[in-house]
Amino acid sequence: MNGVRITEVGPRDGLQHEKALVPTDAKVAFVDKLSDSGVDEIEVSSFVSAKWIPQLADASEVFARIRRVPGVVYSALVPNERGLDAALAAQADKISVFVSATEGFSQRNTAGTIEEVLLRLQPVIRRAHEARRVVRGYISCVVGCPYDGPVHPDKVASVASRLLEMGVDEIDLGDTIGAADGASIEALYLGLAEVVSAAATTLHLHDTSGRAIECAVRAAQIGVRSFDASAGGLGGCPYAPGSAGNVATETLVSVLAQSGFASRARADQLRAAGQWMRSKIASCPP
Ligand code: HMG
Ligand code: MG
Repeated sequence: MNGVRITEVGPRDGLQHEKALVPTDAKVAFVDKLSDSGVDEIEVSSFVSAKWIPQLADASEVFARIRRVPGVVYSALVPNERGLDAALAAQADKISVFVSATEGFSQRNTAGTIEEVLLRLQPVIRRAHEARRVVRGYISCVVGCPYDGPVHPDKVASVASRLLEMGVDEIDLGDTIGAADGASIEALYLGLAEVVSAAATTLHLHDTSGRAIECAVRAAQIGVRSFDASAGGLGGCPYAPGSAGNVATETLVSVLAQSGFASRARADQLRAAGQWMRSKIASCPP
């Protein structure tokens, strides 16, 4: 069975990188459109400091107003216990925590060393499980870091191993600045093999260098069955200079299907949702 699972991260990773503050109404309508597109999961927003990411300060309101389609998982990104409290209050189905494989990005994105961030996440993971939530553990900069340069797979394996010891249910590997190519994806999964199987990971690709699709197909051939993507290719991280949008969900699902890896997501609806959001962003005041 070559079915792949798709998590749509446009409402979080896409909108966090836009200069425009997209109105809450438009965010809610965007999530609702995505809910009808056949994706398995939608990362609706993040409960992070509004000083750091003002674009997503309305996360609670977005969660309160979306229409939830049975079978779709509505997840939230959180950096600490305060974020967890807000995500649970908003009835997020799943909690995503995040840590970097590199010290440079860890400081710039989360104001702490890798070790400090892992310690901060320990009670978040424990309490999310007590609240019966599945926990995703993102690792950023799995191939390259905008501050520390190329990243060896051993570094990623060591952070993945810590996250798994701490109890995360899923490892999500983020190529934050789109540094990967087919060969580095192979090297990454080879380096991780003793810690986590390819089938137990999600791959989160940014398309900075135009190689995200090549990487996704290579990863699927290696055994990855879960991918993040963003309708219309929205996205990036404000703390990763040069990072571009996530791989476009509509392109990802089409190319994977042509390569023998089908998902339930419908490319035409995803393309329309992405175009609709781009038109909303274009009409926002600068
Ligand atoms: P800090 O400045 O050390 O935190 O940041 P602090 O504890 O000193 O708090 C600063 C202020 O934020 C305080 O407000 C806190 O109350 C408030 P003040 O008292 O000054 O008015 N605060 C919060 N407010 C709301 N929700 C919260 C929260 N926590 C504190 N949860 C912190 C530390 C982790 C909070 C900060 O660094 C942060 O929020 N970072 C998040 C940055 C971010 O969201 N980056 C993008 C997501 S990661 C990503 O995109 C990569 C990914 O896509 C995968 C990939 O591509 O690799 C996932
Ligand atoms: Mg990202």
